[in-house]
Amino acid sequence: METFEADWLALREPADRRARDGELAARLCAAWRRHGWTRVVDLGSGTGANLRYLAPRLPPGQRWTLVDHDPRHVNRLSRLDAPPGVDAVSAVSRDLSADGLAILDGADLATASALLDLVSEAWLAGLVRRCANAGCGAYFALTYDGEVRWMTESGAEWRSDGDPDDGFVWTAVNRHQQGDKGFGPALGPAAAPIAAHLFHEAGYRTWLAGSGWRVEAGERRLAARLVEGWAAAAAELRPDAADRVAAWAARRRAALARGSFRVTVGHRDLLALPGDAE
Ligand SMILES: C[S@@+](CC[C@H](N)C(=O)[O-])C[C@H]1O[C@@H](n2cnc3c(N)ncnc32)[C@H](O)[C@@H]1O
Repeated sequence: METFEADWLALREPADRRARDGELAARLCAAWRRHGWTRVVDLGSGTGANLRYLAPRLPPGQRWTLVDHDPRHVNRLSRLDAPPGVDAVSAVSRDLSADGLAILDGADLATASALLDLVSEAWLAGLVRRCANAGCGAYFALTYDGEVRWMTESGAEWRSDGDPDDGFVWTAVNRHQQGDKGFGPALGPAAAPIAAHLFHEAGYRTWLAGSGWRVEAGERRLAARLVEGWAAAAAELRPDAADRVAAWAARRRAALARGSFRVTVGHRDLLALPGDAE
């Protein structure tokens, strides 16, 4: 089972909130209001970040179903108080890679954050079919897109801070992203545009927007976790180049210790509305 520790989810939540595309969220809220939607199903909820972001933006009267397969997250979700504007929250333990998508029947909105890059194209196609059958909207935020850049401050400007092994490491990391995360071969960085295409083919209107992280010195713990995660993924994929990856990680740790850095990590938000919901 692919697991995501609660402390990692807490570390990334502020960067996620800042990065989300506000216009897309506003467009979703307008469609929700126009159609009098109330029922939303959040797939792969973790500790509930998507609920915390969306609930205050959507009109009152919301009824949320939060779904995860990790018993630690489900236990925590089941103890969440309903935020203002939310009439009901329920937590459901389900493996979405198996038969979990029946949970979308009767939903007005299917949503997830930081999930789509984990899934396979076949699973995604099944998700789109389920949404189309339910006639529900879809909002999938913060799908990793494979673009990472380092910058350093030089005078009043930010300049690119390339390392000779960045390309080597990103290639390995992005291939690692395509490994099986429990749903079959993962789409990784390709997931958001493929999802947009599949929804379009199913008769939806779609919008894709950038929601990249910008991590700076104030979030050094997050940056350090990223470096460790990338180094571990690259070394797992390229054990023959473990020393090269370790040397890259040491240089990047040193860059973090110098304190003047900016790392941008590309993500995409996707909104898909049924033909009659725009
Ligand atoms: C990257 S985390 C994102 C969590 C949360 N949406 C957020 O934005 O913080 C992915 C979540 O998907 C859940 N997940 C992964 N595979 C799953 C599966 N097969 N069935 C249900 N949940 C799954 C994980 O347990 C984790 O909570």
